[in-house]
Amino acid sequence: MENEAKIAVEMLKHGKGKVLDVGTGSARMAAALSKYGYNVVSIEYDIDILKKAEENLKKEGNIDNIVLIHGDAHELPFLDETFDVVVTYNAMHHMKDYKRVLDEMVRVCRKDGYILVTELNEKGKEFVDRKHHERGENHEAKLNINDITEYLEEKFALTGEIKHSKYTDIFLCKKI
Ligand SMILES: C[S@@+](CC[C@H](N)C(=O)[O-])C[C@H]1O[C@@H](n2cnc3c(N)ncnc32)[C@H](O)[C@@H]1O
Repeated sequence: MENEAKIAVEMLKHGKGKVLDVGTGSARMAAALSKYGYNVVSIEYDIDILKKAEENLKKEGNIDNIVLIHGDAHELPFLDETFDVVVTYNAMHHMKDYKRVLDEMVRVCRKDGYILVTELNEKGKEFVDRKHHERGENHEAKLNINDITEYLEEKFALTGEIKHSKYTDIFLCKKI
């Protein structure tokens, strides 16, 4: 899956500026963005997961340009148009209200900045469900990348490109 984060980041085609990563999780996306040269702010709701992400990033020596924040993606604690790029990697299906999170992501992204959203495709869902099952956990992802793109187009007239990767579908658009 690390490779999938890298493919998503490479769609951005540049590595300058301030990026918000929504739903830090194990921080694969934060790490990929940081290696690409971005200054990253990464937000996560679960404090234990956030601490683990910090430990992992420190072990890899990869924390200098990443700020980890405890907070809720439904109410991002940032002013409007704070970030050059706003990203979320396979996290939207974990959100209580993905539309509200998308509203927030659009709000904090500057005009002409970029929004990048990845979601698990069918193969990715099977893979992640199986991994969780092996650990005695449950995982269910009902959302598809089309749910995301349709909402962004209907509400904000945002359109962009979709890349189909092995386990994920990746959507990139420019905020107008
Ligand atoms: C599968 S992980 C995402 C993977 C991660 N982006 C990565 O790069 O490794 C989903 C994460 O979203 C977090 N999450 C769920 N609801 C959230 C919310 N309202 N605000 C912020 N993070 C949330 C979960 O706690 C979980 O750690």
